[in-house]
Amino acid sequence: MKTSVQLQKMKQQNEKITMVTAYDYPSARLAESSGIDMILVGDSLGNVVLGYDSTIQVTVEDMVHHGKAVKRGAPDTFIVVDMPFMSYHISVEEGMRQAQYMMQQTNAHALKVEGASNHTLQLIQRLTEAGVPVIGHIGLTPQSVHVLGGYRVQGKDKQTALALIEDAKKLETSGAIQVVLECVPNELASHISSQLSIPTIGIGAGKKCDGQVLVYHDLLTYGADDSPSFVQQYADVNHIIQSALSQFDRDVKEQNFPNQEQSFVMDKTLVQDLKL
Ligand code: KIV
Ligand code: NA
Repeated sequence: MKTSVQLQKMKQQNEKITMVTAYDYPSARLAESSGIDMILVGDSLGNVVLGYDSTIQVTVEDMVHHGKAVKRGAPDTFIVVDMPFMSYHISVEEGMRQAQYMMQQTNAHALKVEGASNHTLQLIQRLTEAGVPVIGHIGLTPQSVHVLGGYRVQGKDKQTALALIEDAKKLETSGAIQVVLECVPNELASHISSQLSIPTIGIGAGKKCDGQVLVYHDLLTYGADDSPSFVQQYADVNHIIQSALSQFDRDVKEQNFPNQEQSFVMDKTLVQDLKL
């Protein structure tokens, strides 16, 4: 398993970091066996697994439930769990308690929080002091979708670009071990990556980030098939599953399944004895 220290070294050695989301035992097992460096139990759980239209309805209990399953499936991979909507905004104390609960329940290696408000920076500092590594997340922060006014590229004008550069620096200063940059123009993500000594992990943020993260279901085309433009679809799992399921349906209806080998046969003398 790569530790946070080893992941940090990868940046210095110009080696790209890979991260993929996972939400359950099988996805975690496959992520671990593929050699991917880090797993994120993202609150994208809400969209891709639970069928919500945003991450806002995802709860701490949801994250813990899925985080535990991921940990069982990937016991030897660096696992990050997202702190969900408003679990860290009521107060720093409340955020600390939720973080303690999430770490102790899931046994993850780090937590991730969105934004760089003073409050969130303070939480990152306190968690780091308490021994909880934290990953920041700026740019498009889906928990704030209704304030941002939709899922769109961030940092496209001078003011917001400068604010993102400042936010990234503040996250590093507060002790964040990495920063996710979501939906940020290439040039800006590249500049931030060169300014920070901690790794940046991009999603829709160009190739100059120190690492890349994709949502499991997006990169596999598994579930909803309207993935964002920055996704590379490496497989079409929907197609494979759909054709298998309709073949099963057809085979049962045409009485081609189950066949002899897929059935249990009784001893012939017993069949006669029982007059079956
Ligand atoms: O929840 C998630 O999947 C994420 C990634 C997109 C970074 O936060
Ligand atoms: Na997330």
